[in-house]
Amino acid sequence: MAPPGAAERSAASLSGASTVDEQKRAAAIAAAELVQDGMRVGLGTGSTVAFLLPALAGRGLTDIRCVATSPATERDARELGLPLSTLSQLGGLDIAIDGADQVDPHGWLVKGGGGAHTREKIVASAASTFVVIASAEKAVASLRAPVPLELVPFEAAHTLATLAPAQLRDVPPSPDGGLIADYLGEVGDPATLAELLDRTPGVVEHGLFAPELVSLVLIAGADGLQRRVPG
Ligand code: A5P
Repeated sequence: MAPPGAAERSAASLSGASTVDEQKRAAAIAAAELVQDGMRVGLGTGSTVAFLLPALAGRGLTDIRCVATSPATERDARELGLPLSTLSQLGGLDIAIDGADQVDPHGWLVKGGGGAHTREKIVASAASTFVVIASAEKAVASLRAPVPLELVPFEAAHTLATLAPAQLRDVPPSPDGGLIADYLGEVGDPATLAELLDRTPGVVEHGLFAPELVSLVLIAGADGLQRRVPG
């Protein structure tokens, strides 16, 4: 089935991004160019966002304010001189930019490979425009496990058992004290799984992001930059 919404390719200066890192950088640079002075900007987390931060700092904008989704992004943004604030201070965001682990043809995402999906979903939801940046291997025909979870520590083994197969990840808790875990079963229809995870007590948040949340996906590949607007 053809993906809904618009998709276009532009070779421009972004053609020839053949390594994964070059592709991440190309997508990040294109997203940084969407930010204008006066904007309130949400900053995601991960290795693709690591290319976004210097690209954004390099724009030389003098009037932006940013909200970071993780301690790592906060530290890197601060080092680059990007002005940091909070959602409650800003009241909302004009744009948020973040990476993804998987992007399906309809604009469903799996996020949370770095365990930051709870904060990332809060920030993406607060933005008028949410832009996803990805290298080509993140584009998949259909989503698959693992789907990251953040769990309340109380009776987490029971929560995991109700979602079996699912297991704790061997990583520190989130900065908000949640346990990071992964759902390992079939994804099937992402909306059905997202609904199940949403109504499972003990699940703080999951890494399925619905297309309604996503304004634009920028996927950089060897043949240029693909722009997808989920329908
Ligand atoms: C962080 O928890 C994640 O949601 C990342 O945004 C996602 O895993 C993409 O990370 P990379 O850009 O490192 O692939």
